[in-house]
Amino acid sequence: MLTLASAVVGLLAATSGVSGAPVKRAGTQNITDISVLQYALTLEHIENAFYVSGLTKYDDQAFLDAGFPAWVRGRIQQIGDHEADHVAFLTTAIEASGANATQACSYSYPYTDVASFVTMSASIENVGTAAYLGSAHYLTSKTNLNAAGSILATEARQAAWIASAALKGSPWETDFQTPLDPSGVYSIASQFIVPGSCPATNPPLFVKPFPAATVTPATPTPGSQITISLPTGYPGPSNSTVPLYVAYYSGLNIYSSEIAENGTTTIPDELVGIVFAAVVKEKPSPTNPPTDDTTLSGLVNWDFGVPSNARQIFDTNIAPYN
Ligand SMILES: *[C@@H]1O[C@H](CO)[C@@H](O)[C@H](O)[C@H]1NC(C)=O
Ligand SMILES: *[C@@H]1O[C@H](CO)[C@@H](O)[C@H](O)[C@H]1NC(C)=O
Ligand SMILES: *[C@@H]1O[C@H](CO)[C@@H](O)[C@H](O)[C@H]1NC(C)=O
Ligand SMILES: *[C@@H]1O[C@H](CO)[C@@H](O)[C@H](O)[C@H]1NC(C)=O
Repeated sequence: MLTLASAVVGLLAATSGVSGAPVKRAGTQNITDISVLQYALTLEHIENAFYVSGLTKYDDQAFLDAGFPAWVRGRIQQIGDHEADHVAFLTTAIEASGANATQACSYSYPYTDVASFVTMSASIENVGTAAYLGSAHYLTSKTNLNAAGSILATEARQAAWIASAALKGSPWETDFQTPLDPSGVYSIASQFIVPGSCPATNPPLFVKPFPAATVTPATPTPGSQITISLPTGYPGPSNSTVPLYVAYYSGLNIYSSEIAENGTTTIPDELVGIVFAAVVKEKPSPTNPPTDDTTLSGLVNWDFGVPSNARQIFDTNIAPYN
């Protein structure tokens, strides 16, 4: 199952980021509680439509045929219902303020079978959790902050359940949850929006579109060397005026590695669990995190987790894999 999980995270990683993103951009100077709720609703529409599409496509028998026990589809149905509730909740909160709530676009998801649908659902819930955590600091109303925290906890529990109970992987690895900035989140989420399909009346988002980074191999391991590049026409390590780095987001830590002239870099070997990474043009650290201005690529997303049964209390040496 771990290989399965890695394969689909790889599928996301390979297409991460976006060129010509379907986004109208508002400046970050004007972020209000309502614009944060509109951003959250934009993501909840993507999550909600994801479950509707997969559960319409795959019935109980399809889940059984794919080797999942009968309760997995039932729980995923419940998660889908929760996402529909989040859409309704945010829509009501936005409309209560007198604004029009952002409407759903058309979406296209890269899953190809029940297994990749389930794995993608873990990834979607993880990105949702990171999104709420990374935008909570923009909220000024305690009521809104409380509501965002409440949804955040639910999405984190859903991500943990899918990853461990359904996929037999890690429910968590790090001591802190990873927050992600809106532009980084949107670089992943916007891949699922059919270009040009969003209603023209939708409000602008305060996100910056980034080109996708291409990583080879797509599903690397910590401590290994990768090649990472931006599309043609964007800076590379050979023609950038400043050194380029990869920033790795893990919990409240930000790790980095410099990209060599030949485009290679080595992933820090202490990374575990879900890791997001981007090409940046300033050496990042937890006290000097990348911003929209120093970030050059959309996020890639890896799962360096271990199986759910990998840490047994009778292990004297906790084996990373067993
Ligand atoms: C902020 O909002 C004001 C008023 O709506 C607008 O004129 C201005 O262009 C906005 N600034 C940015 C950076 O979006
Ligand atoms: C909401 O949408 C309606 C219909 O498009 C429009 O007439 C109205 O001005 C909008 N309200 C706001 C606050 O933007
Ligand atoms: C910089 O070099 C990369 C290859 O590393 C190339 O793809 C890109 O087009 C170059 N960028 C510019 C602005 O010339
Ligand atoms: C690229 O450069 C790095 C650092 O100088 C070196 O370790 C690596 O072997 C090189 N890889 C290739 C494929 O040339």
